[in-house]
Amino acid sequence: MVIVKNGYMIDPLNNLEGKFDILIENGVITKIEESIQPFPRCEIIDATEKIVSPSFVDIHVHFRDPGQTYKEDIYTGSLAAVAGGYTTVVCMPNTTPTLDEASLIRYVIEKGEKVGLCRVLPSAAITKGRKGRELTEMALLKEAGAVYFTDDGLPVMDSFIMRKAMEYAGSIGSFVADHCEDLSLSNNGVAHEGEIAAVLGLPPLPPESEDTMVARDCILSIQTGMPVHICHISSKLSVEIVAWAKAMGAKVTAEVTPHHLYLTDDELTEFSCNAKVSPPLRNYEDIEATRWALSSGIIDCVATDHAPHAHHEKMMDIHLCPPGMVGLQFALPILLELVKKDYLDLKKMVEVMSTNPSKLIGIKPPQIKVGEKAEFTIFDPFESWEVNEETILSKSKNTPLLGRKLIGKVKYTFYNGKVVYRD
Ligand code: NCD
Ligand code: ZN
Repeated sequence: MVIVKNGYMIDPLNNLEGKFDILIENGVITKIEESIQPFPRCEIIDATEKIVSPSFVDIHVHFRDPGQTYKEDIYTGSLAAVAGGYTTVVCMPNTTPTLDEASLIRYVIEKGEKVGLCRVLPSAAITKGRKGRELTEMALLKEAGAVYFTDDGLPVMDSFIMRKAMEYAGSIGSFVADHCEDLSLSNNGVAHEGEIAAVLGLPPLPPESEDTMVARDCILSIQTGMPVHICHISSKLSVEIVAWAKAMGAKVTAEVTPHHLYLTDDELTEFSCNAKVSPPLRNYEDIEATRWALSSGIIDCVATDHAPHAHHEKMMDIHLCPPGMVGLQFALPILLELVKKDYLDLKKMVEVMSTNPSKLIGIKPPQIKVGEKAEFTIFDPFESWEVNEETILSKSKNTPLLGRKLIGKVKYTFYNGKVVYRD
């Protein structure tokens, strides 16, 4: 028996916000009351001045398993997830080999279950080997447990194939998610096209590389009537295009990463490979646009795009190093910063971190409710902590936030009725 005492609970789905105690018996929430008397031999978790929220759901992570487990694996990725307050993650299929066969989908699910720290769900590739030519066997992959389809890391450049993919995924009750980038416009760019790229002499990557693909996908979605999800949206114009498509009634959804909500291309000034990411960090106007779009619902949810890379890979020249940064442990402090700056309230934060992404992938959102298994996160919104090699639980430590202090720390994460993380 566990009693979580004196926490400030927030559950948007059940319209609950306030100070409550929670009693958990055999993993199941059996009482939520203003004050619950402790029993003999029951564990008390003191949540005074902490927030108790349904745990978070990240629909875009790279756990590099199978094949690149020197960067991350399903165990270390799960550790980072629960330390970030997440209990559901969707792994990207850009592994080695590509997740384009049912047996590989089952591998990810089984390993995730064996680790048992959180719900690890796979997405599958849209095209075989992510080569952009031949569609995968989507129905078989869905049956094996793939929650959606994406060639993430790469766009689907061929519009006819994208249209077929949308139609096929939509017809089996799933959807495609696109890494929107016109590679011909990207032209091997490294930094967002603008002053910083010019001053540093880095190959520029213009935002229209993203915008044109977002527009194409929105148009295809309108024409086919099928859903499409925009991965890691980052530019102002892309946000405006999604707003237009939604107004047209298109089944378009979009996610934004914490780093695109928080960091600008200024991070690149020391030619830091840890600040190289796809899409690139942009400027303040873009950040503002994504923040307002998240608060107004144009952007549906936050997804970290947690993209671990090994130290030796990030030691390469900035032109050559792989793009990406780890993110699972920083989403909460970054979102809390937006709450403090009044872009969002706490309820909206929980919606974009938990409720909305759950609905997007068709799973039951975590709820703090009598009869439910305990699946929530207790965090201290004011605790400050330093991002460093020790506090990052991922195998890889690639983030421009290294050495910086963040405010907001996960203290406990409950999954499947049990504590899976304790600070
Ligand atoms: C991702 C990766 O490393 O797999 N990198 C990144 O910069 N985001 C791929 C991706 O999500 O595009
Ligand atoms: Zn991507």
